[in-house]
Amino acid sequence: MRILVTGNMGYVGPVVVGHLRDVRPDSHLSGLDTGFFAHCLTGTTVLPERRLDCQWFGDVRRPPAEALESVDAVVHLAGVSNDPIGTTYEEATLDVNHRATVELARAARDAGASSFVFASSCSVYGLAEEGLRTEESETGPLTAYARSKLLAEEGLAEVAGEGFAVTSLRFATACGMSDRLRLDLVLNDFVAGAYAFREITILSDGTPWRPLIHVRDMARAIDWALDRTADNGGAYLAVNAGSDEWNYQIRQLADAVAAIVPDVNVSVREDAAPDSRSYKVSFARFRELAPDHQPQVGLPEAIEDLSAGLGRMGFHDPDFRNSELVRLRVLENLRGEGLVNEALEWSRADEPVARV
Ligand SMILES: NC(=O)c1ccc[n+]([C@@H]2O[C@H](COP(=O)([O-])OP(=O)(O)OC[C@H]3O[C@@H](n4cnc5c(N)ncnc54)[C@H](O)[C@@H]3O)[C@@H](O)[C@H]2O)c1
Repeated sequence: MRILVTGNMGYVGPVVVGHLRDVRPDSHLSGLDTGFFAHCLTGTTVLPERRLDCQWFGDVRRPPAEALESVDAVVHLAGVSNDPIGTTYEEATLDVNHRATVELARAARDAGASSFVFASSCSVYGLAEEGLRTEESETGPLTAYARSKLLAEEGLAEVAGEGFAVTSLRFATACGMSDRLRLDLVLNDFVAGAYAFREITILSDGTPWRPLIHVRDMARAIDWALDRTADNGGAYLAVNAGSDEWNYQIRQLADAVAAIVPDVNVSVREDAAPDSRSYKVSFARFRELAPDHQPQVGLPEAIEDLSAGLGRMGFHDPDFRNSELVRLRVLENLRGEGLVNEALEWSRADEPVARV
């Protein structure tokens, strides 16, 4: 199988590529990424891209036709990956996450691919105080990021059809170690705080619900979706990807970290405004459709693994929320240097696309 993974040089990508290489040793794996975070390696001495057969450097808004040639499947991770970036760069977020996603799927289909896997997000549900959100529940995206994911899903549903299965995996919030770790994700932030200065600061009152998924379990779900055909869920499928046990309240996550990392103080902002992102999600459909690719990592294991990873990095930055381990900060630094523009393009975007 020839698989193109876009956005492979971010946080999730290296874990996905590593997993696909392990479980599909004979596949041809290529990557396509614009490389915003290529330099943000964390605790690794070798480049994760070594496990690919080919790396393209380019923008998914203008994918090189050659990158799609003879491809059987696309795993589409490239995009603006959180609310803070989406709010700062709203137009670019819609352009990349919505328009370019649908066009890439169309181009992949026309080039003969049979499968397209899209990294969507449970944030499409917005605020959902009561009950578990299922795929039939009403959506209510609250941010440009969440809206862009939902619009992409709607466009993808139109592109799917006979011989071209499209799967939108509505991922819970990711966590866990990666060769390009992000600390702008709740559990990763807590473990970093605990590890670096024995303090976990909860920026809400701790009560919001948030489903989580480990990056290695995201990779397992993607592996399943790559082989999915229309007889298992239809030509187009949007499915929540995660597990019911991983619906946690923010405070529970902090306590779980404090139970593992010694001498940690947890502080809650009792006066904080309620977090608008509170939702519990049902993963029943995913359980039913993908029984052999269910999440396997436990929360204590995720925390221990992150602590070990931070140790390998020699991490001790108490100001990490303003560091290059935060995606928005990296983009702001690139912009400050005049390397990236407001459309989130390299300033010399018309350079030829490089292939390695
Ligand atoms: N991390 C999470 O909690 C989570 C949860 C749900 C869904 N997702 C989705 O999974 C995907 C990967 O997330 P991540 O955490 O690895 O994000 P990330 O920001 O670490 O990585 C995104 C990658 O996409 C690349 N990229 C961005 N714009 C591009 C463009 N125009 N052309 C080519 N490449 C481009 C970046 O260079 C980066 O390598 C994203 O689409 C994200 O929205 C992530």
